[in-house]
Amino acid sequence: MSRLILCLEKSELKDLIKVHFAPFSFIELIFTEDPQEVVNYINMFPDVRAVISETIVKRTEAAIFIDQILTRQSLPIILFAIGDLDDLGMKTKYQFRLEDHQKMILSLKSVLGIEDNNSNNSTLNDSVSMPAHLFLHFENLPFDIYLKVQQGHDNKLIKLFNAEEPIDHLAIKKYMNRGVVDFYLKREWLKEFSKLLIKQLENRLIESLPSNESQLEAEGEVFNSLKDMVTSLGLKPQVQKLCEISMLNVQRRFSEESPFKSFLENLKSNQKLNFHFAFVQLSSLLCSQYVEHTDWPRKQKDDLMEKLVFSAFFCDMNLPSDEMLMARNEEDLLNFNSKEMDILNSHAQKIAESLKTYPNIPQDVDKIIMQHHGVMNGHGYTVFPWGGTALAAQILFYSQDLALRILTANGKKLGNVLADFESSYIESPQIEIVNKFLRSFRIESNKAS
Ligand SMILES: [Fe+2]
Repeated sequence: MSRLILCLEKSELKDLIKVHFAPFSFIELIFTEDPQEVVNYINMFPDVRAVISETIVKRTEAAIFIDQILTRQSLPIILFAIGDLDDLGMKTKYQFRLEDHQKMILSLKSVLGIEDNNSNNSTLNDSVSMPAHLFLHFENLPFDIYLKVQQGHDNKLIKLFNAEEPIDHLAIKKYMNRGVVDFYLKREWLKEFSKLLIKQLENRLIESLPSNESQLEAEGEVFNSLKDMVTSLGLKPQVQKLCEISMLNVQRRFSEESPFKSFLENLKSNQKLNFHFAFVQLSSLLCSQYVEHTDWPRKQKDDLMEKLVFSAFFCDMNLPSDEMLMARNEEDLLNFNSKEMDILNSHAQKIAESLKTYPNIPQDVDKIIMQHHGVMNGHGYTVFPWGGTALAAQILFYSQDLALRILTANGKKLGNVLADFESSYIESPQIEIVNKFLRSFRIESNKAS
């Protein structure tokens, strides 16, 4: 048995693959629209040969997520990625645009050792079943269509529609409503039917291709509200994609109800948290930008990015106002009353401690959060991070600082914001981190006058 897992959303694509591969009894097709379920199936079945996934399924970066899992675990499973593939950084060599689905099917057949003229390998006898809804694509067909009914201990084929007669779509729907899943045709017509069907499905698939305009809209959805800033900063699409993956991975860690899950949901839906959400997204992007521009191995980059994005999401979750989010040093604290000061001084420590007891969080995020204001014990604020703080915490410290400067720039030019950022830290022991940020934006020479 060879299992193929299909993580697809487009019904035409599902049908197309079903028509090509269902007749082969040694192939088991498993359909899902959840990339996490793909991983579960891979762990469950040792004989998964390939995964076919659209790049985006249910608004998640499905193919990239699956590609990462296969690469990280060095699994001998081939991924066929279909969709918009610009610069996604996937390891799989089997990448196809939707328009190239025929090439994808040919490659898949070649991987499975199926030759096109082998379609007679089906173990079906003199009749072949096909999903009933596929017949709705036709007004008439050159062969008879049958329904299987049970008579005593035997199954019998009853003719539903004669060859070349109009196919009654209403009647098909009625059968389907009564639970009929498949109709039958004589086996000698399978090849002809497959040809007609493939043509139909391909036409519909091409018609379903989104226009360039709507593709563009769909792409930057996560960072839509930050589009102008992201463009001005010159953040590459790959950094955005990698950051989005980390964000999705963060969300996947909270399947059960918890204060963290509620906060994530609130962050996206509560208008009062718009600034907080923008702050989290931009800090996450800047952390990802920094990590991506290091020379570290891919896996180390991916792991650190996820830890940083996770920390960026939760490190300030108990700060109740935008003003409190903007506090960066002890001088800023003087603007708050004593109760607010207590909250500010202890927020890093409290969240780090509550996360430590929570299962399924990436290693070290409690430490990163504890130190995200540059202080070892998580209490209070500092101008430059202390020497003993973790590098990851320092990256988050500078990312948050830069994110706040950008979000509160009020019309100030980005070049000037970055120059101010640089001059504020000219005496910082971590000036190299600041310089690395600036180099990554290719504006190293643009210094404050
Ligand atoms: Fe904070």
